[in-house]
Amino acid sequence: MTITKSIKQDEKYIWHPFTQHKISPLPIKIVSGKMTKLKDEKGNSYIDLISSWWVNVHGHCHPYIARAIFKQSKKIEQVIFGGFTHEPAIELAKKIIKILPKNLKKVFFSDNGSTAVEVALKIAYQYWFNKNKKKKTFIAFKNAYHGDTVGAMSLSSGSDLFSTFKDLFFKIKLFDYPSTWEGDNKIEKKEELVLEKIDKELKNNHDIAGIIIEPLIQGSGGMNVCREIFIKKLAKVINKRKNLLIFDEVMTGFGRTGDFFACKKTNTKPDIICLSKGLTGGFLPLSLTITTDKIYKNFLGTNFDKALAHGHSFTANPLGCAASIASLNLFKSKKVFEKIKNIERQHYIFSKKLRKLEIVEKIRICGTIIAFNIKGFGSGYRAIIPMKIKKFFLDKGLLLRPLGNVIYIMPPYCILKKELKYSYKIIYQGLKKLDETRSHN
Ligand SMILES: Cc1ncc(COP(=O)(O)O)c(C=O)c1O
Repeated sequence: MTITKSIKQDEKYIWHPFTQHKISPLPIKIVSGKMTKLKDEKGNSYIDLISSWWVNVHGHCHPYIARAIFKQSKKIEQVIFGGFTHEPAIELAKKIIKILPKNLKKVFFSDNGSTAVEVALKIAYQYWFNKNKKKKTFIAFKNAYHGDTVGAMSLSSGSDLFSTFKDLFFKIKLFDYPSTWEGDNKIEKKEELVLEKIDKELKNNHDIAGIIIEPLIQGSGGMNVCREIFIKKLAKVINKRKNLLIFDEVMTGFGRTGDFFACKKTNTKPDIICLSKGLTGGFLPLSLTITTDKIYKNFLGTNFDKALAHGHSFTANPLGCAASIASLNLFKSKKVFEKIKNIERQHYIFSKKLRKLEIVEKIRICGTIIAFNIKGFGSGYRAIIPMKIKKFFLDKGLLLRPLGNVIYIMPPYCILKKELKYSYKIIYQGLKKLDETRSHN
């Protein structure tokens, strides 16, 4: 690979996220994007099969969203949100409340998925605090990933990703995420066991401030899928024990699981929901933490003590709000859900082919996401799928980013049938190559 001048500059000045610079290949410089395609500085084109860290639900550079941002930028681009407000924030809040379960009524803005989760944690903690109850422990699930800030990392301590920081974490109780896959016949038992344990914990442990879960599918923890019935039953248990259920829908929101939100698909009503990623259609960083009126009212008082001490410089940035409104409009006007259903259908057809490969196991599909494990290279974040295979995909024009030994596809909804078919073909070829590598080792 020839190293261009700008890549040398990148190497000189930039520290990339989740990157071991000593061994990672140099980054590829992307110069433009359109729909599912990204183009690099050398003219190579890639199908973005992971929606660039799961954010570009409508593909890249959608002109309708771009226009909405430009239009808003000529009116007001940014304004302090403490003591001031603006139309895009009000319109977005109204629009979001309309499509969420009816109990969710109050919208708090922040900037990314991690902060949406931090806000949820602070709200849950202070909800009890304002009722003169001190509760400091959160329930989370093994392999969960809720973000990179210290609070969010604490919740993610059931994965090995953040073990370096474990001395900084606050107290959590971890339970198994009852993940399932094609051919799994032990799922009922797994679910029952977890639900029983959580119920018992809530009954006996009065320090629990809330339960946080990635409903239907855990993202970074390995694209682990659970059943709708589990989420329904979990919500029932939490409701019975009068605790707070927090849905981290940072990844699952905005159509990913086949419905607008996993809470809609499962017909459940969390007390708090966190949204980000697909919110702005992938154009700008923005996130929302949305709660019930019951929770909100607990923060009201005649002095500041009961108020939520949280806010960012860019809270409710008008450009981010304008992008989000435009993105939501696209869900109405472009028959996006038909496209989502089609992607799921195509994934099922591909899964039949995958079943024939010895190297593949635990195939699972959830809405627009298909994932499977690769046998023979270990598991978890430390498992390394050989660089060669990643390069093979890139050379063939596919942007994929396996999670340890898990390969997944999570494309923008505008992906064309022929692009999906091509991607499946290349992935299949790559897996066959990997199988050969394995048998030669
Ligand atoms: C479920 C979930 N929660 C939170 C986050 C953190 O979001 P961000 O990377 O925007 O901080 C992510 C990111 O992948 C996520 O998948």
